[in-house]
Amino acid sequence: MAKGRVKTLSARGVAVQMLENVLDRRRVLVDAFDMACQQLEDPTSHRDRAFVRQLGTTCLRHLGQIDAILEYRLKKGLPPAQRRLRHILRLAIAQLLFMDTPAHAAVNAAVEMTGQLGRTEGRGMTGLVNGVLRRIDREREDLLGRFASPLFNLPDWLCESWQEQFGTEQCHDMAMAILRDPPLDISLKPEEQTTQWVSALDGIALPGGGVRILQARGRIEDMPGYDYGSWWVQDFAASLPVRLMAAPPRARVLDLCAAPGGKTAQAAAMGHQVTAVDVSPKRLRRLRQNLERLGLSADVVTSNAEEYVPASPYPYILLDAPCSTTGTLRRHPDVAWTKSYDDVEYLAEVQARLLAAAVEMLAPGGVLIYCVCSLQHTEGLYQVEALLDRTSEVKRKEITADELFDMPHAITAEGDVMTLPHYNPSDVASGGMDGFYMARLVKTDV
Ligand SMILES: C[S@@+](CC[C@H](N)C(=O)[O-])C[C@H]1O[C@@H](n2cnc3c(N)ncnc32)[C@H](O)[C@@H]1O
Repeated sequence: MAKGRVKTLSARGVAVQMLENVLDRRRVLVDAFDMACQQLEDPTSHRDRAFVRQLGTTCLRHLGQIDAILEYRLKKGLPPAQRRLRHILRLAIAQLLFMDTPAHAAVNAAVEMTGQLGRTEGRGMTGLVNGVLRRIDREREDLLGRFASPLFNLPDWLCESWQEQFGTEQCHDMAMAILRDPPLDISLKPEEQTTQWVSALDGIALPGGGVRILQARGRIEDMPGYDYGSWWVQDFAASLPVRLMAAPPRARVLDLCAAPGGKTAQAAAMGHQVTAVDVSPKRLRRLRQNLERLGLSADVVTSNAEEYVPASPYPYILLDAPCSTTGTLRRHPDVAWTKSYDDVEYLAEVQARLLAAAVEMLAPGGVLIYCVCSLQHTEGLYQVEALLDRTSEVKRKEITADELFDMPHAITAEGDVMTLPHYNPSDVASGGMDGFYMARLVKTDV
């Protein structure tokens, strides 16, 4: 081991650390992943990192089912102090029931890790771990049938709100969709040819241009065209808000809450004059790097958008507000277990203030797109309804199916857009999309 380096761990040991970081320390999955991978013997090994990622995301996606199975099989349960032992068991069950790992490899690794635990963490439990896991492997079919419902994997508050908002059937479809690996969607600069990139990236064409790669392999940075700045990664649903602004060429666009800059890049690539505002200097560094790679430019401002005062009002504003991100669970399965309804309520207050500030910055006749990658009405529809009740300064400009690449099912009764994880872009058979709410508002001339 190199001098000064922390103790190295196997890929499965690193996955245990990652689960601890997410579930016990409430760290965001991407940070927890990077932190834990430092303990790999070779922290840069793509193979090991890919295995840790697959293991961690599979476990978090199926965590409700896994815990229900564990509870069913461990009649006496585990003492709360034995958190690490619980994570070892969870990861082994993820491999036994939801991955292609050979059973003996999953069980042996779990037994070995259990043998290395300290006294309070579960020493002396190797026999129990071996027995429970072998039994779960034997009863695979029965357990998968008994605990088949994807609803196990939604925390109660989320499941209840989705059932109430979308109905039982849609909630079930949504819960199924977030168990699948999402595709990699690529947004192309307008001068790039979709057909050329469909073939170069071995993908399928997305409506409106862009490429969907159903099973991306390897690092994004190594894919053709990345270094040349021909494209950027952006979920199909996330590409809709800028399109719905329907701004004429070279429009002045204010992008509030802009980092890491997917929508800034999209508006800049269309030739608009973009001002990108975000409160986070760290995230704005990523936005600048992204723009530089793409050869695009924007005015970048570090500011709390609630306090930002533009030199003159803007005719086009995009407000992609901070939110609970429940629409992105298939990419960020940690969100289900780290966020709570309290977060939704807190964020709703921030969103209301940001919306009011954005209306102030909007020129008469100007267009404001409000969007969140949350599926909670509290952060989407109810925000817009409350704003329209509070002020007559803006009114809704309804969105029509022809503006949305013929996805009438994504248009709400109010004329806003709500994409759900099991929806597909028209003419695309699979892959789904992130859940997003978006509304278009226009400032009245009074
Ligand atoms: C959903 S993300 C934006 C994603 C971005 N629009 C894109 O397409 O890449 C929300 C952003 O809001 C920023 N943010 C949160 N509160 C803010 C505030 N009060 N003022 C400005 N930015 C804020 C966060 O730093 C974060 O970058």
